Amino acid sequence: MRNIVLCGFMGCGKSTVGAALAELLDMRFIDMDAFIEEQSGMTVPEIFQKMGEPYFRTLETRCAETLSLQSGLVVSTGGGALLSPANAAFLKKSGVIVLIDVPLSLIECRLAGDTSRPLLNRADKSDEMRRLYGQRMSAYRAAADYCVQNEDDRPAEQMAQEIAGALRLTDGL
Ligand code: S3P
Repeated sequence: MRNIVLCGFMGCGKSTVGAALAELLDMRFIDMDAFIEEQSGMTVPEIFQKMGEPYFRTLETRCAETLSLQSGLVVSTGGGALLSPANAAFLKKSGVIVLIDVPLSLIECRLAGDTSRPLLNRADKSDEMRRLYGQRMSAYRAAADYCVQNEDDRPAEQMAQEIAGALRLTDGL
């Protein structure tokens, strides 16, 4: 069975929806950031701080390649993972890509008190979020085979049902 790869901006719910989807479909769930943390023995913020973003991106590509050799996974990507054409090619090779499209206003609410994302740990967090969002959404859309919207903060379980429905995987469930 092909992998199901969730993409989208930071805070769109890739990890929570991914876990719910894996449970719904009885598939194995892999969160790329958690995988990278496990392999490197460092947290994502530590990797950024000690080794720099380019090193994190190298680990991300290695992770995308490793996962592309496996099947039957639900994969939640990091918000930057699909932006590299090499990563997108690896992840597309073994799976179907689903974008969780959440408006910036809701992302801003969700990430208001968050300090775990190195790219947003800065004084002009709001501006940077808006800039990255504007820059990245078209790349996510270009990479995705399917897109689900969540403009009204629907719960992860409901989003999982919708994704399974869009992929026609609910028959018989
Ligand atoms: C990043 C998103 C993060 C994490 C890293 C970089 C990005 O993942 O991979 O901090 O470039 O958007 P989430 O999308 O799960 O926050």
